[in-house]
Amino acid sequence: MSEKEMKIGKDYIGVGCGAFIVNDKNQFLLQKRNKEPEKGYWSIPGGRLEMYETFEEAVVREVKEETDLDVEVVGLCGICDHIVDIPGETKSHWISPSYLCKVISGEAKIMEPNKHLDMKWFDIANPPENITITTAKALDDYFYNIQSEKYDLNNKLVKHIRKKVFPVYEKNDKGHGLKHIRQVISRSFELVENNKLDVDINMVYTIAAYHDIGRKSERDKDNHEEISAEMMREDLELEKYFSEDKLKLIEEAIVDHRASLEYEARSIYGKIVSSADREIFLDNILYRSYFFQKNKHPECDKLGVIENSYKKLNSKYGKGGYAKMYFSDEKYQKFITEMQVLLENKDEFIRRESLLEE
Ligand SMILES: [Fe+2]
Repeated sequence: MSEKEMKIGKDYIGVGCGAFIVNDKNQFLLQKRNKEPEKGYWSIPGGRLEMYETFEEAVVREVKEETDLDVEVVGLCGICDHIVDIPGETKSHWISPSYLCKVISGEAKIMEPNKHLDMKWFDIANPPENITITTAKALDDYFYNIQSEKYDLNNKLVKHIRKKVFPVYEKNDKGHGLKHIRQVISRSFELVENNKLDVDINMVYTIAAYHDIGRKSERDKDNHEEISAEMMREDLELEKYFSEDKLKLIEEAIVDHRASLEYEARSIYGKIVSSADREIFLDNILYRSYFFQKNKHPECDKLGVIENSYKKLNSKYGKGGYAKMYFSDEKYQKFITEMQVLLENKDEFIRRESLLEE
């Protein structure tokens, strides 16, 4: 084969780049692919590096071409080994770093409609399910590298939690998996920032990371917060990072995260994790609640599951519901208003949950 006949990404490794563009609402920009590989999946903007072009130049150019936005590169998120099967073809292999970017000017719009079917800003803590390999990697890198740097977290602690704690969540039910934990971590940081709380951020991180770890335990399903706190205590590695007093506070906060707690959370840390644990996305809560009830009562038919889900959500988030929120928070206010409108229209609630299936 002559050099001219060789195909990029097929006969030799391609070099690409991705743009993780974050706006001031903690949302990032995705576009829905209209081409193989990964057709129909949501992806961060990006493309191939051109000869004599630096990665940062390529990122700025690709974003402009695809979205019409002018962006500035803030820093490297991480590198993706993008090796992917293409239906009916040989595998493709690209190497692609992704960069954190911020918008300087412009409004995002689809500039290449043949390549992209849709374009949307998604909350970083609530990305869609079907995302491309490079997007999943960029998100991971955002959570582990960018977020740690932004909030000045202890790197060794973050590594430990990533290696020892997060894998345990893969066994949890859909509502209490890693996506939920990332959301609670991000929301905890948001609450600290917005309310200018003077706290130990590594404690906030550890509490959020551990708060639901006991969910999977067979010991006592109705008491998962106590088990989560015990499991945190069994992690002796944490003694390297926290004094006994701090570990005690972490333990109490994990216990106090429960929405139906009968007393007020004992410290600011319990208030943060409890508030961060409240859902803020309507689609998410319907999904999480439906699958939680389905798991809990396998004997129920679909309508029975929805009925249980309705009852639970109504007692928690309906008017006078027991869900605790210790801070005034715009995102939660918006959510609770939408939620209560939906709860008042039970037929619509049933219709929406009926659409959910694995
Ligand atoms: Fe939780």
